[in-house]
Amino acid sequence: MASHYSLLLILAVASVVSIISPATSLTCSTQNILSSDKTPFQTCLDLPELESYLHYTYDATNSSLSVAFVATPSRSDGWIAWAINPTATTMSGSQTFLAYRSGAGEAPVVKTYNISGNNLSEGRLAFEFWNLRVEALNGGRMAIFTTVKVPAGDGSVNQVWQVGGNVTNGRVGVHPFSPPNLNSRAVLNLTGTTSTGGGGGGSKTPGNAGWMITNVNLGVNLGILVLLGAIFIF
Ligand SMILES: *[C@@H]1O[C@H](CO)[C@@H](O)[C@H](O)[C@H]1NC(C)=O
Ligand SMILES: *[C@@H]1O[C@H](CO)[C@@H](O)[C@H](O)[C@H]1NC(C)=O
Ligand SMILES: *[C@@H]1O[C@H](CO)[C@@H](O)[C@H](O)[C@H]1NC(C)=O
Ligand SMILES: *[C@@H]1O[C@H](CO)[C@@H](O)[C@H](O)[C@H]1NC(C)=O
Ligand SMILES: *[C@@H]1O[C@H](CO)[C@@H](O)[C@H](O)[C@H]1NC(C)=O
Repeated sequence: MASHYSLLLILAVASVVSIISPATSLTCSTQNILSSDKTPFQTCLDLPELESYLHYTYDATNSSLSVAFVATPSRSDGWIAWAINPTATTMSGSQTFLAYRSGAGEAPVVKTYNISGNNLSEGRLAFEFWNLRVEALNGGRMAIFTTVKVPAGDGSVNQVWQVGGNVTNGRVGVHPFSPPNLNSRAVLNLTGTTSTGGGGGGSKTPGNAGWMITNVNLGVNLGILVLLGAIFIF
């Protein structure tokens, strides 16, 4: 149905991540991440690549998807990103929330990128979103929080996430091109409602990690596009 793009990381992390199966990796359920109204998210997913985590609550009455994306930049001045691509399963078109620190000890910032083709430029997003913020967590992790409007009736969204390289003077550098960076996309199924009871969700609960359909064979990926974009931008 859909998938997403990819952004970045390192081969070593890739190997580690590929060894950890969703069944044994239950990290997100032990992360104490609260939504903007201070309640736990309905569900959390240990994403299959890049040691990244998605906490989310889908409100069908408002067709709003509230998320917290947790990942660790590969460097102190590195970046992380989470995106929805409303129109395709590629990097191009991805509506991206990207967070970074401009240096060690600096407060992180989060910005939006409307990625089109190979153009990685800051820009407005195609959908409404609110409550966007980034939080520095311990261990060098960062969490991007936002709530986005999902078109009413859409049962799933194409999500893409990435862990990137340098940010130099606000310019986002390329991410690694190892398999995890190229495979970090999945369909997030919004209609398989959670039965985890609001505690953050255990991955063994029916309908948790199994909702994600990973797509690993897309020819076009964010990594290559980011590289091309960097060539154009720089
Ligand atoms: C419902 O969606 C609107 C945007 O369409 C937003 O302003 C509002 O805060 C949302 N309500 C809740 C409870 O999230
Ligand atoms: C990239 O996108 C921005 C914003 O849409 C635009 O101003 C700029 O001209 C584009 N750059 C290229 C190389 O297409
Ligand atoms: C995103 O970029 C594409 C291509 O440049 C453009 O057609 C579209 O209008 C942009 N979206 C927004 C919300 O500006
Ligand atoms: C990051 O920047 C440093 C110098 O500032 C450079 O040596 C290094 O190659 C860059 N890494 C990436 C992944 O771009
Ligand atoms: C989402 O999950 C529900 C319930 O498990 C299932 O019926 C539906 O087909 C799934 N949708 C997608 C797009 O995978």
